[in-house]
Amino acid sequence: MRLSVIGCGYLGAVHAAAMASIGHEVIGIDVDSRKVESLSRGEAPFYEPHLQELLTAGVASGRLRFTTDVSEASGASVHFIGVGTPQQKDGSAADLTYVNAAVDALLPHLSAGDVVAGKSTVPVGTAAELAPRIEATGATLVWNPEFLREGWAVKDTIEPDRLVVGVGPSKSSATGEKTDPADVLREVYHPAIAKNTPFIVTDWATAELVKVAANAFLATKISFINAMAEIAEVTGADVTQLADAIGHDVRIGRRFLGAGIGFGGGCLPKDIRAFAARAEELGRGESVAFLREVDAINLRRRDRAVDLVAEAFDGSVFKKKITVLGAAFKPHSDDIRDSPGLDVAVRLHGLGASVTVTDPAAIRNARRLHPQLTYVEDRDEALRGADAVIVVTEWDEYRRQLAPEHAGNLATGRIIVDGRNCLDAGAWRAAGWAYFGMGRP
Ligand code: UDX
Repeated sequence: MRLSVIGCGYLGAVHAAAMASIGHEVIGIDVDSRKVESLSRGEAPFYEPHLQELLTAGVASGRLRFTTDVSEASGASVHFIGVGTPQQKDGSAADLTYVNAAVDALLPHLSAGDVVAGKSTVPVGTAAELAPRIEATGATLVWNPEFLREGWAVKDTIEPDRLVVGVGPSKSSATGEKTDPADVLREVYHPAIAKNTPFIVTDWATAELVKVAANAFLATKISFINAMAEIAEVTGADVTQLADAIGHDVRIGRRFLGAGIGFGGGCLPKDIRAFAARAEELGRGESVAFLREVDAINLRRRDRAVDLVAEAFDGSVFKKKITVLGAAFKPHSDDIRDSPGLDVAVRLHGLGASVTVTDPAAIRNARRLHPQLTYVEDRDEALRGADAVIVVTEWDEYRRQLAPEHAGNLATGRIIVDGRNCLDAGAWRAAGWAYFGMGRP
């Protein structure tokens, strides 16, 4: 099939490359000419495992191209919209500027019978708003939310847990035949369909809500365990053991019960805020009022991490040399959007500490946003002379591959704050470190 993908960020670039890898002919379209040039050379403009291989193969095969010229979408029969929906600058609602711009740009190039598939995370009701403009061209709009996790984006795109397609009220085509846009999407995702991936056909509103509900649930799960960490902190309990114990209940499950400095990234924080804002607009603010609490708990964990470091120094980090292990909002990503760890680093710097940050992938992005911090590529170099060390992103380089004895030979102090509860507390203590976890005695 011939597909176009409008927007080549984390979502669109991966989608375009993944669709080419399963045999489609894909044109990726973005307004950012530097991004398009990089992608056209087969170079991933950001770090995402396996994306590079797919891009190289796709571009070499001739099935994957990128352009800034939206008129090239006219050769495709399915058009995916994968532009960003960031938080508004002056509020908590989603900013739909890019979605509207993408649709406006695409309209003149749509033909009767085309399918436009929205993938961006949008407030419920957006598809119904956009549909009249799109469907006036004879094209059909579906909403096909994306559930990919950064770091696993290629796998999540090619082998998703489930596929969801929201279709509009049924209608007949110009020739009187019934058109089923869901069948078109079945054809697009043929390898996943062949493996019996659940394929849920629903209405626009449900499809839009599935995405925000999933992210709201995940955020709530993380904040739930972080709330338990707060209770553990005043009772001497250990939240990691608590999570293990409740996680054995299959109704609860252990995943996403990792207490620590909380969630960040380009999705969960802005999606729960946008959801709460949309619910208010719909007169149902109270239904998801708990999401404000979920957000507040999450942000408090950053304060807690800063306090833990300060407490280790009897209250003040002023002039202390602190090495921050991690900058990305999570491992296997170079994304620093709303990174809790980087926020903690910036706050420590603000309190007068001399902060050195290292990360296997995210230094370039972090330096651009926070040039005031010191960045060191090499982990061991970053640890040299530190008075205290804090782990904020659980990369294997810190979690598995950093022996406490080795770190002890490099650092001056023996204070380790485990912002992700990812280290073996016993092993670090045995090597002479004062270990501080989040919600752990
Ligand atoms: C998320 C959703 O998982 C994905 O389905 C959706 O499409 C986009 O948003 P992503 O932002 O890539 O994906 O990251 P995710 O793996 O969900 O982690 C989000 C944040 O939560 C990270 O900062 C992570 O460190 C944190 N987290 C995760 C915890 O603090 N504890 C956990 O137990 C799990």
